[in-house]
Amino acid sequence: MKIALAGSGYVGLVSGACFADFGHEVVCVDKDPGKIERLRAGEMPIYEPGLAELVRRNVAAGRLSFTTQLGEGIAGASAIFIAVGTPSRRGDGHADLSFVHAVAAEIGENLRNPAVIVTKSTVPVGTGDEVERIVGASGTQQRFAVASNPEFLREGAAIDDFKRPNRIVIGTEDEWARGVLSEVYRPLFLNKAPILFTSRRSAELIKYAANAFLATKITFINEIADLCEKTGGDVQDVARGIGLDNRIGPKFLHAGPGYGGSCFPKDTLALLKTAEDHDTPLRIVEAVAKVNDTRKRAMGRKVIEALGKDARGKKVALLGLTFKPNTDDMRDAPSLAIARTLIDAGVTVAAYDPEGMDLARTLLPDVAMAANAYAATEGADAVVIVTEWDAFRALDLERIKQLAKAPVLVDLRNIYHPDEIRAQGFTYVSIGRG
Ligand code: UGA
Repeated sequence: MKIALAGSGYVGLVSGACFADFGHEVVCVDKDPGKIERLRAGEMPIYEPGLAELVRRNVAAGRLSFTTQLGEGIAGASAIFIAVGTPSRRGDGHADLSFVHAVAAEIGENLRNPAVIVTKSTVPVGTGDEVERIVGASGTQQRFAVASNPEFLREGAAIDDFKRPNRIVIGTEDEWARGVLSEVYRPLFLNKAPILFTSRRSAELIKYAANAFLATKITFINEIADLCEKTGGDVQDVARGIGLDNRIGPKFLHAGPGYGGSCFPKDTLALLKTAEDHDTPLRIVEAVAKVNDTRKRAMGRKVIEALGKDARGKKVALLGLTFKPNTDDMRDAPSLAIARTLIDAGVTVAAYDPEGMDLARTLLPDVAMAANAYAATEGADAVVIVTEWDAFRALDLERIKQLAKAPVLVDLRNIYHPDEIRAQGFTYVSIGRG
């Protein structure tokens, strides 16, 4: 089957490469000629483990190609996925659907064969209706249906999530569209991945409800961590103690500096806007977004506290800048708020991140980027682990102690064990271990 993806960003590219790997013929389309040129040359626009190799293999097998021409890309495709960005609209937090609407119009104008048009972009409930209206208004004579097929990929684990999904959600009321999408995902049915057919609106809501629920879980354990600090509990034990109850589940109960990234912050906000428009306040999600926002700067203050009296003029080393490991994504990363809080308090900041420093340089011009964790640590009054990259799990602590001015380790991801670190002579501050 031929499949086209309109939009070759994170979602479009990962999905396209995986569909090609299933054996489909895939064309990834993008308006950005530079991006398409680089992709043709085998250069990835994002850092995602395994992606370059997957793309290379499928291009070599003749199953995956790239173009800037939407008309050429969708010619003969039975399924056309819309995978363009839906950023927060400036000023009001609504999802900005201008790219989705523009691409829908262009698909309508260029449709020369029957096709199922599928929104993979994260779009508010009701967007499928609008896409259907826009494609219809183009005057196309071809048969088409519009379905919703949200993606649940995590950055850093996207290929594995795509190939071994917890579930596939397909939202459409159209039998023909169901058949086409069943064929698209057939290799995964063979692997017994659960597939859920729903209405288009339910599928759109599932995506936002899932992200809001996960954000709530994280925020819940973060607040419990604060309570642990005040009362002498250990949040790691509390998380394990509740997570073993399989009605709760152990995942997304890892306390930290607050969630970031391109999805949770933007999607919770967009969901709240949808709720507001429908006069149905989602008070729990409102609280989650607010608590998470204030938490990031609070983490900066936690570091300042660890510096002791008068932080002004002191130096802090930040290890990890991206919002999580195995990505170069800096969007809404807690490191941004932490670094800014420190700089506002007159602290000098040096940092090291395995993948995020190119982007971070422009976002944090006042932070000195170091060649590695040890270079960042030189002369520091405190070393802070902000992102749990594997490389930071086995630091040479003796070397850190020698390089730093003071042996203070602030571990915002709880990757070290308090007793062991303290035994090595460090003042150790972590999350929720009172
Ligand atoms: C998230 C969802 O997990 C995916 O299912 C979804 O497809 C994606 O958003 C999306 O909507 O596109 P992602 O943003 O890549 O994926 O990253 P996560 O692994 O979910 O982490 C998000 C944030 O939560 C990170 O800042 C992470 O450090 C934080 N987190 C996660 C915690 O603080 N504690 C946890 O226990 C888990």
